[in-house]
Amino acid sequence: MRIILGVTGGIAAYKAADLARLLIRDGHEVQAVLTPSAEEFVRPVTFAALTGRKVLTSLFEPSAAIEHIDVAQSNDLLLVAPATADILAEFAHGLAGGFLSTLYLAFRGPVILAPAMNTNMWEHEATRTNLETLRKRGHVIVEPAVGMLACGTFGAGRLAENDAILEAVRRTIDPAVRDLEGETILITAGPTQEPIDPVRFISNRSSGKMGYALAQAALDRGAKVILVSGPVSLDPPRGAETIHVRTASEMRGAVLSHLKPATVVVKCAAVADFRPAAPAKQKIKKQGKPVSLELEPVGDILAELGRIRGDRLLVGFAAETNDVLEYAQWKLNEKNCDMVVANRVGVEGSGFESDTNEILMVMRGGEVVEVPRAPKREIADRILGQIIRLRQTAGVAR
Ligand code: CTP
Repeated sequence: MRIILGVTGGIAAYKAADLARLLIRDGHEVQAVLTPSAEEFVRPVTFAALTGRKVLTSLFEPSAAIEHIDVAQSNDLLLVAPATADILAEFAHGLAGGFLSTLYLAFRGPVILAPAMNTNMWEHEATRTNLETLRKRGHVIVEPAVGMLACGTFGAGRLAENDAILEAVRRTIDPAVRDLEGETILITAGPTQEPIDPVRFISNRSSGKMGYALAQAALDRGAKVILVSGPVSLDPPRGAETIHVRTASEMRGAVLSHLKPATVVVKCAAVADFRPAAPAKQKIKKQGKPVSLELEPVGDILAELGRIRGDRLLVGFAAETNDVLEYAQWKLNEKNCDMVVANRVGVEGSGFESDTNEILMVMRGGEVVEVPRAPKREIADRILGQIIRLRQTAGVAR
C-alpha cells in the first residue's frame, strides 16, 4: 500500500517519525508530507532517512506546481498524524492554501486523521463541527487519548498511541480483517430480571444492543463467540453460541460453566445488584396498603471472575450517571480487569436503549481513550481493537 503520511505542527509530530517506521515495517511505502509548522518541530531529513524518499513540504518549490496532483494520484491512502485543529478546519472547509490541504482536495482514496491538540481546542464547538463534517465524508478519526498534555492540562487531546493508528490503517485497508481468529470471547449482554413473584420482576433499562453488537463484530473478526444473554428482544447473532438466562444467578452459572474455553471475557450485561430476598411463590394480591420488599445483595460476577481469571483478558463495563472516569478507574482496580468501558447513562444518545453510545476506555496502567458518540457497532469495533492492543502489549502479563 502506498501511504501519504501528513505531519502537521504539534508537539506530537516527533511521534510521527516512529509511525513512519512502523508503517514501513508493515510493508507499506510511505511518502511523508510536512506542513511548514511541522518543520518547526521535526526535521524533514528524519523522515527522508526513514522512508527513503524526498519529503514534501511546500507548495512553492519549483517542482511542486503539479506535484500535489501526482502524489495524490499515485498513493492509496492519506494518513495525517498528528492532525492539528487547523488542518481539520482546512480539510473540512476545502481550503487549499498549503501543500497538504491541496493534496487532500486532489486525493480520492481513504483518509485517516489522528488529531492532537489542547483539550479546550479539541472540545471547542468549531473543532467538533469540523470533525462531524469530516466523519460524514467517510474519513476515519482516530480519537486522541485522555491524559496529561504538553501544555500542562489534563484532558482529551493527546495523540492516540501509534498502535491504535496502525490498527485504523489495517482496518481501513481491509475492513474484513479477521484479527480475532483463535480467540474465544465470552460476552454477557442485556439486563437480568429478579422475580418478586411469578409475574413481576425487578430489572433495568438495558436493551442488550451493545453486547449484541460486540458479539456480531467479534464474529465478523473471526472470533468464536459465547453470548450469555439476559432477556432482550434481539435476534442472537448467527454463529454465536447463545445461552439465554433470566436472573443474575442464572447468568453467573452460565458464565462459570462456559468460562473454560474463553480467552477473553467481556462483561457488558447490566446485572442486578439487589434482588427480592424471598420471591413469593404465588402472585402477591393487592391489599390497599403499602407493600415493602426486602432486597438482598447479588454477588458480583465480574469481581468473582477477577479472582479466577487466570491469563484471560477481562473487560468490564461501568454504567455511570456522574464522575464517569473516577468510578471506572475504581471498578477496574476493584474487579481486577484489564479494561473498563465506561458509558454515561441517563443522557440521550448514550447508554441503555440507545442505538448509539459514547464511551471512555480505561486501561490498566492508566491510559484512557475517549470515543465520541457513534453507532454501537462502531463502538464495538473500537472496543475490540483495544482488546487486540491489550493482547499485543503487556495486557496478559501480571
Ligand atoms: N457486574 C457483575 N455482577 C453484578 C453487578 C455488576 O458482573 N452483580 C458487572 C457488570 O457486568 C459490569 C460491571 O460489573 O461489567 C459494572 O457494573 P455497574 O452496574 O456499572 O457497577 P457496579 O459494580 O454494580 O457498581 P454500582 O452499581 O455501585 O455503580
